[in-house]
Amino acid sequence: MNQIITPPVTGLTGLTVVSFESRLATAMADLISRQGGIPISAPAVREVPLAENPDALKFARELLAGRIDMIVLLTGVGIRALLTAIEGAYPRAEILAALSRIPTIVRGSKSQTVLRELGVPITVAVPEPNTWREILTAIDDAAIPLQGRRVAIQEYGRSNPELVAGLAARGASVMRVSVYRWALPEDCGPLRRAITAITLREVDLVLFTTAVQVDHLLQVAAESGLEESLRAGLRDAVVASIGPTCSRAMREHGLVVDLEPEHPKMGPLILTVARHAHVLRRIKRAGVVRGAGCGPAPCEVRQAGEVREDRSAELLQESAFLKACRLEPTPYTPIWIMRQAGRYLQEYREIRGKLSFLELCHRPDLAAEVAVTAVERLGVDAAIIFGDILLVVEPMGVGLEFTKGDGPVIHDPVRSGADLKRLQPVDVQESLSFLFEAVRLARAALPPNIPLIGFAGAPFTLASYLVEGRGSRQYHHTKSLMYRDPGAWHALMERLSDIVSGYLNGQIAAGAQVAQLFDSWVGCLSPDDYREFVLPHTKRVIANLTPGVPVIHFGTDTSTLLPLIREAGGNVIGLDWRVDLDEAWSRLGHEVGVQGNLDPMVLLAEPDEIRRQAGRILKRAAKRPGHIFNLGHGVLPQTPVDHLRALIDYVHEETAR
Ligand code: CP3
Repeated sequence: MNQIITPPVTGLTGLTVVSFESRLATAMADLISRQGGIPISAPAVREVPLAENPDALKFARELLAGRIDMIVLLTGVGIRALLTAIEGAYPRAEILAALSRIPTIVRGSKSQTVLRELGVPITVAVPEPNTWREILTAIDDAAIPLQGRRVAIQEYGRSNPELVAGLAARGASVMRVSVYRWALPEDCGPLRRAITAITLREVDLVLFTTAVQVDHLLQVAAESGLEESLRAGLRDAVVASIGPTCSRAMREHGLVVDLEPEHPKMGPLILTVARHAHVLRRIKRAGVVRGAGCGPAPCEVRQAGEVREDRSAELLQESAFLKACRLEPTPYTPIWIMRQAGRYLQEYREIRGKLSFLELCHRPDLAAEVAVTAVERLGVDAAIIFGDILLVVEPMGVGLEFTKGDGPVIHDPVRSGADLKRLQPVDVQESLSFLFEAVRLARAALPPNIPLIGFAGAPFTLASYLVEGRGSRQYHHTKSLMYRDPGAWHALMERLSDIVSGYLNGQIAAGAQVAQLFDSWVGCLSPDDYREFVLPHTKRVIANLTPGVPVIHFGTDTSTLLPLIREAGGNVIGLDWRVDLDEAWSRLGHEVGVQGNLDPMVLLAEPDEIRRQAGRILKRAAKRPGHIFNLGHGVLPQTPVDHLRALIDYVHEETAR
């Protein structure tokens, strides 16, 4: 019924997926194929049996012959690996006895624990943060003679050129004992071909399953002079990591991690990427097409872009949602859900699990993905950009934080005229550019007939957070400031109003078709107070918006304020569930549209009850043009997705004309 032109593609259908997995390469390719993906196996790592480690055996020989005068031990894992490598060839007790006869320089607490377990005395324990500088200083401080001595360094994974040079400068001859567990594959051909494919943007999705793969990939790319192009290619692909250790290694190397499953295993990795890959890929490609010069974009995308340019404006304007905003008849009643891009959705929790809420807001690609995915999962008639009403107060320097249990907290609230003076001026274009970028990416990735709603908090609701410092029941501090220092109150509201209209116009310029103003908490005011302390400001915000863009003006508990809210402006007025829709609409006048009215709590009931309650609202709306179905406030995190889908399908089917 709702007319998304191309049905969402699921799984990994048609996507080219590079996996660097080695030992389980076949199983991984199989998992990718089963989701419809085209696997490219590019093993990046060869496991080297420790017993075949020539460095370690040579070291053992020299040590037992008394030709090593000192040893520097760098990692706990490395010490154990070294012993395992030698054990098959030489008796463990003799090795430990030989180690106990020479000075041991031991870095880090883990190495020290291992040595203690082995019963080998520690001559010098190097304190944190133990870089090569601290190691050399500690050796100097202990006055261990180095001139003409033979020093072994146990290395693991990475080499330590500065340490080697420092020891050599003190007259030592250095023997490096590398105990690699992992080497490059004997045939690096597949890895090189994968690197080329990534640089040519032929790859949609890249999967890392161990940290060493990251080292090896960059090493091989660097050897072919392709490191920079590889990095650029990875930025344009969807990049997933199997778990936290792998992600850490990627970030250390400056690579961006887009997805990471909740459990660090191959199965969950594939399922997670399958849920997000298509939307994220569209978003990444949208970035590539816009950022010309980032490399060749596949022509498939350019063609899609052309189609968009030709017909997109028309498709958007003809959408049921925009028609309803203009009070024109629609083929069915459009519906979207406030807070549809939120915690009730598994895809949201997956993205949010690895980032803080603010970090997520500051990642335009992921914010856009969350907004677009919500539309695809629900089949709603509009998207809302992912962000928060409080993002505009972040650059004011008031210490905004989103805490786990308490929601938003402002550490330095504004309680007086003096506090007002310390608010930083906000350059909306600059400090909120990340959100405008998210709007651009979401617009490019959305189906061409789905409008994108930009949003902002209305000045009163923003002021209430700035003054209270958090959500509130009584609005004690807010009302005190309002009544005791009206000058300061109006000054604050004016500043917020300018920021809000600039912010909404920025979103409109970036690709939003509608602007929604959230005045969630304004219902705590008397009509007279609204008229005096709020109306002029909200009116100015709306009057300053780009002409021709519909405005939805939302509040809760606003039954007595509706005529004033209407006066402040908006083409569509939000209604919560405390009013009868038809009665409220008559009071507003039928020259404006209405949105909302279902109690979000109803969605916790069974689908039959949801349909019954939605049916009552539809009856009151009486198919009058200008009704947009929605909840009276945001969807609750515990809402089952199936219940939302049942509501959306019901509204579409019941109202089809
Ligand atoms: O509607 C959407 O899907 C778009 C995203 C959106 C969010 N917040 C994301 C969000 C929108 C439109 C908002 C608006 C918002 N934010 C309002 C006005 C609407 C309303 O519900 O009254 C208000 C008052 C806020 C302030 C805010 N942000 C609160 C009170 C909270 C904590 C309560 C909660 O729901 O967790 C937030 C955090 C927030 N904003 C989350 C989301 C998805 C949850 C953050 C998380 O993932 O932990």
